[in-house]
Amino acid sequence: MTDLDSTFVTGAFPALSGDRVFLDNAGGSQVARHVGDRLMGYLYGPNVQLGASYAASREAGARVAEGRAALATLVNATRPEEVVMGATSTQLLGQLAAALSQDWEPGDEVVVTNFDHEANIGPWAKLAAQGVVVKEWRLAPGQHRPDPETLRPLLSDRTKLVAMAHVSNIYGTINPVAEIADIVRAAGALLCVDGVAYAPHRAVDAPALGADFYVFSAYKVYGPHFAALYGRHDALLAAANINHRFFDRSKVPQKMEPGNAQYELAHACLGIIDYLEAFAQAHGINATGRPAIEAAFGIIAAHEEKLSERLLSYLRGREDVTIVGAPEADRTLRVPTISFVIAGRSSREVVEAVDPTGIGIRYGDFYSRSLVEGLDLPNGDGVIRVSAVHYNTLDEMDRLISALEAA
Ligand SMILES: Cc1ncc(COP(=O)(O)O)c(C=O)c1O
Repeated sequence: MTDLDSTFVTGAFPALSGDRVFLDNAGGSQVARHVGDRLMGYLYGPNVQLGASYAASREAGARVAEGRAALATLVNATRPEEVVMGATSTQLLGQLAAALSQDWEPGDEVVVTNFDHEANIGPWAKLAAQGVVVKEWRLAPGQHRPDPETLRPLLSDRTKLVAMAHVSNIYGTINPVAEIADIVRAAGALLCVDGVAYAPHRAVDAPALGADFYVFSAYKVYGPHFAALYGRHDALLAAANINHRFFDRSKVPQKMEPGNAQYELAHACLGIIDYLEAFAQAHGINATGRPAIEAAFGIIAAHEEKLSERLLSYLRGREDVTIVGAPEADRTLRVPTISFVIAGRSSREVVEAVDPTGIGIRYGDFYSRSLVEGLDLPNGDGVIRVSAVHYNTLDEMDRLISALEAA
């Protein structure tokens, strides 16, 4: 496997030219230059309202369509109409719940987990107010990855949907979604996957996973502050319209995009593909589109495993540290989102001691409140989370380890 070319990568991110170390990437990544270029190209180009017959409006429409197609390529959707665009994953999941639940009856059931970010719990749990029965799929204590078999007893012929994370933003563990999808499909229910913590690290293939819905945030995948919801075409077609009253269900995906998406941000998502294609080229891979994306993420995964191992081996070696998640760096099991606590120290005090070094890490529950509260941590202020992506270096990990030692 080709080693990651850090000179190429650093050069592709203007924000990395300084001395700052970004290790809070699960909160939001830096933006590739290609994305900024696309953004400005739109704003300084055909920045007009879509849908008119004059040339600039047609061009604007074509550029927004390119952005949607790019997001479709990123999740391997079979067509661009399978992508609903929106400001954030939280908003898109709220919209999805609002649309689907219009067809649900009191007594229908949904399953949420205790290991998701609130974005994929709250919209479903709130449906209890209209009589939907909400069941919780919990990880057993000490377990970081759900056993698919433990889902079965929670499913019934009234189950409409199961909502789960592909990767926990605390544990960093990659969950066995394809296996779970088989169980959910056999029960006649839909599967809604939160891929926000996975998409920055691996090539997403939502159809291959068997997800009916799959959401991710472009602003954590080197793109603009924007998000996309993949929906299998017939699942989207079946959903109710939440846009203007005179739209009908056949208007996919616009019926799910009230008020339209931000055009310039939609177009800028094309820059994510530009970046990944340039990445592939820089690593000797002569490909475009999906093959380039898959090859790029293969190199990224191998590099990330080295970053994880550097930090995890340090954490494993300290008796006062408890790793909150899998202690192994294996790229098939985890992404480099690494949480831990230190005996006798508050997470806040450790992070604040690291702040002056110019390294950005973070503490808290990261809105995975059900999970972190269930852990019953002694310090009361959540975990310390270090979340790397491929543009981080082993040298930065060493700087962090020194800072943690000093703290
Ligand atoms: C796993 C996970 N899901 C969902 C979200 C929410 O994403 P957004 O800010 O796009 O609503 C986050 C944000 O941190 C997240 O980490």
